[in-house]
Amino acid sequence: MPANRIAPLMAGEALGERHWLLTFHHPETAREARAGQFVMIKAGTSAEPPLRRPFSIMAVDPERETFTLLVKEVGPGSRALCGLPPGGVAQCLGPLGRPFTPPPTGVDALLVAGGYGIAPFWLFAQEISRIGGRARLFYGGRTAADLPLLARFAESAGAVVGATEDGSSGHRGMVTAPLVEWLRGTKTPARLYACGPDAMLRAVAHLAEEWGLAAEVSLDPWMGCGVGTCLGCVVRTQAAGDPRARYRCACTEGPVFDAAQVVWPGEEASSMRRTAAERGVARAEG
Ligand SMILES: Cc1cc2nc3c(=O)[nH]c(=O)nc-3n(C[C@H](O)[C@H](O)[C@H](O)COP(=O)(O)OP(=O)(O)OC[C@H]3O[C@@H](n4cnc5c(N)ncnc54)[C@H](O)[C@@H]3O)c2cc1C
Ligand code: FES
Repeated sequence: MPANRIAPLMAGEALGERHWLLTFHHPETAREARAGQFVMIKAGTSAEPPLRRPFSIMAVDPERETFTLLVKEVGPGSRALCGLPPGGVAQCLGPLGRPFTPPPTGVDALLVAGGYGIAPFWLFAQEISRIGGRARLFYGGRTAADLPLLARFAESAGAVVGATEDGSSGHRGMVTAPLVEWLRGTKTPARLYACGPDAMLRAVAHLAEEWGLAAEVSLDPWMGCGVGTCLGCVVRTQAAGDPRARYRCACTEGPVFDAAQVVWPGEEASSMRRTAAERGVARAEG
């Protein structure tokens, strides 16, 4: 059950100029969070800024009752969190939302992260390893500064392929290029998981369709409340066999969705939306 608490900052670490790892004390999130879930959080106890902001839960430590976020400073809410002193407090509600579904036995998890979209995959890689599965991370950004966890992920969780648009780290170009290279070279059944900018999520969803793979994407819409009341986070989805697209709250029914059900902005809902079996997913997963 999500808990609404004052959460003290236990540790903060700067990663380069704009990213921070922030560890807060919050027993319920530490005990219950699953990869893909998030917290709604804001620094301090004052009314400014008025709304909490959503951040993916990156790591948990149930014994110490703490969880860790990877925060990129982009505006007032994230800047106030990154500026908290040790022992400073935040208002925190979590864990919230629908997590990623671990892959079935024998199916590899191909994790595709853009920028801070790596956060939920830290926890997910641990969950997959605990059930004896295998994960491989494709981690992209504009420049090396957008990949602050590249080396640490490689040390702690294993296989990582980096890609940057300017070539300053890993492959030069989009992160989907090494992913396609990998898909061409492997016969192991795989499932795709993606978290990052919309354009990347959409590209991964289309690759999944092309390769007949199941895929989940973690969407990143604006969120006001995190609990299904403000309707600020609605996204269009369409289930297989449903003739109409429907609006769903990303905070309560997501942020993780079946990629085949997302109707991307500018795309029309289709009366021909196919089931997973029709898309060849059963074959791809053996
Ligand atoms: C489910 C979920 C999980 C998230 N996980 C993380 C995470 O692990 N780490 C992290 O750093 N951020 C994460 N975010 C994004 C984070 O919530 C926003 O960056 C934050 O709300 C910005 O608040 P702000 O007050 O600092 O900036 P604002 O003043 O709200 O925004 C500053 C600038 O950032 C842009 N911006 C704001 N929100 C987003 C967004 N969601 N996507 C793209 N651009 C945005 C605005 O358009 C504006 O240009 C997540 C968002 C969602 C929905
Ligand atoms: S953020 Fe308010 S309904 Fe989802």
